[in-house]
Order: sequence, then C-alpha cells, then structure tokens
Amino acid sequence: MKKEDQVLLLLKEGGSGFVSGEEISKTLKVSRAAVWKEVESLRALGYEIDAHPRQGYRLEQVPDKLFADEISHKLGTKVLGQHIISYEEINSTNDAIFRLGEQGVKEGVCVFAEHQKKGRGRLGRDWNSPKGKNILVSILLRPPMTPSEASRLTLVAAVSVVKTVQKITGIQAGIKWPNDVLFKNKKLCGILTEMNAEADRVNFVVLGIGLNVNSKTSELPEGSTSLKEMAGKEVSRIKTAQELLKQLESDYTDLKKGRFESLAEDWERYSVTSGRRVTATLTGRKIHGQATGIDRDGALWIRTDQGLQEKVTAGDIQYLRG
Ligand code: BTN
Repeated sequence: MKKEDQVLLLLKEGGSGFVSGEEISKTLKVSRAAVWKEVESLRALGYEIDAHPRQGYRLEQVPDKLFADEISHKLGTKVLGQHIISYEEINSTNDAIFRLGEQGVKEGVCVFAEHQKKGRGRLGRDWNSPKGKNILVSILLRPPMTPSEASRLTLVAAVSVVKTVQKITGIQAGIKWPNDVLFKNKKLCGILTEMNAEADRVNFVVLGIGLNVNSKTSELPEGSTSLKEMAGKEVSRIKTAQELLKQLESDYTDLKKGRFESLAEDWERYSVTSGRRVTATLTGRKIHGQATGIDRDGALWIRTDQGLQEKVTAGDIQYLRG
C-alpha cells in the first residue's frame, strides 16, 4: 500500500477525532515532514483534512470520487468488487472488462470510470454521461450456466438496480423490458450485458451499468433522469456504488442457486411494461399488442391485436397509447 493510502487509513481509523502527526510518523516509520507531504497530496485529490499544530490531523470530508479504495472501504462483499480498478477516463468500461475476461481474470473484478470517451449502449447506440457525476461500471462474471440461462442476468441486474435505488433514495423506480430502469417514464439507468460463450458454456459475462446519479437533466440525453433529480438532493456515488455491488452479489448468488423464479417475480413487480400496449420489431416485421409478462428465459410475451401470443427475445419495444 502506498504511504498516502496508509495515512488515509490512519485518519479514517481516527474517525471524527484528531490523529497526531507524531503517531502517524511513528506508525509508518517516516518523518513528520513526509506525513505533511502525504496529507498535502491527499488534499490535492479532494480530501478535506484539518491540520492543528498540537492535535494533529482530522479527516473532515471524503471527495465523492469513485476511487477504488473508497468503494472497497467496508464494502463487505465476498466476490463482486474484491478487485476494483478506477479510471478518470477510459474508452468504455465494458471493453476494459472484456479484455480482462479474455485474460482469464477471476470473476468479480470491477472497472469504474469518471468518464467514457466511447461509452456504448444497447443496439449499437452510444452512452453519453457527463464527467464525474454518475456511475459507469462494468463487472466480470463467470456464471456456471448455459448461454440462455445467463441471459437472465440482464433482468436480474435491472432488479438489483431498482432495489439499490429504493435503498438509497426510498423511491420506487420501474423496469421497462428488457432492462431499462425508469422513473416517471424517464431513463435512470441502462444495462449492457455482453457475453463470451461457446454453444453450451459461458466463458464470461460483462455486466455494464450506467446509472445516472448526480447529473442534471440538462446534462443528460433527452428523456433521462438521475437520482439527484428524483430525490431533490445530491446522492453519494460511493454509497450508491457499494450498495449496488452488494445487491448485485446477493441477487447473482440467488440466480446461481437456481432461485430465478423469485427474481422474476421481483421483475414483474417492478415492471412498467407488463399490461402496457407496445410495439416490437421481430425479424423485419412489426407487431402491436399487449405485453403480458416475461418467461423463464427473460423473453417478453405479447398478445397481438390479432389474438396471437408472440415471444420477443431481443431488441427494444416502444409503448403505444391506450
Ligand atoms: C443502454 O441502455 O443502452 C445500455 C447502456 C449501458 C451503459 C454502460 S456505462 C458502463 C458500461 N460501459 C459502456 O460502454 N456501456 C456500459
């Protein structure tokens, strides 16, 4: 661990009290001047540290930056986030995790970024998010499942996001099939799952999540919202990221234990799609009808206006009036 991180840890252990410069210098076996230098570099990162000539140093405020150490601190998960890599800027966190997956890295590694230059959305779209405001994360998973079973992860992740939003803000968001998280019909979170698989075996899944946390509506693409807009106040990105990893781990564990049924029930409960009139495009033809629910593979069933039951496994749907 770097000296700077060691100083930070000692200040955190000191809680709301002062930690003397002498104590830090003794514990870390460095001079008082070196302690001062580390404090200065922590301040440059945005940490607010009070310095008192006789009492020492006190940590006043941690910056709401997605530093790996801040997210890891008291995270309490067993797998997800055991290894976290944070970037100030990257092309796409999904690409970074995909490369780690190909290199055989263990499941659970997370890549966070303050900004993406080439953020990707579903169906070849872009994902644009202002710098330092939201959560952009990708997680490497190695589910012991077939590709069709693993496709359920897409739905499970949306359920985890809704539960996280509920815990952090107390507000209930909804899911639009397959995995957009909405509040009052505005998009709060997008999920992009990518898979590296053989016919009957998944090598790894990249779970990419873009959750709008502190951005203003004006900074986001049209039709989007953020936790801050919903809650009417700034929200801690670190706490939200930690809660998200904990919730994802718990739901992912349930999925691996074969408890998809109860996760699908959660999905139905949060769904703002079931019962709605929708239109979907199926291999070149458009269908219109009423969304009736999802099945075990996470496919959406639509009762068409002609009275047929049609299954939609991929793509997007649009809501229709009425
Ligand atoms: C969508 O709704 O179209 C999915 C958006 C997914 C965006 C996230 S942000 C983190 C990760 N990295 C990417 O390039 N995309 C996903």
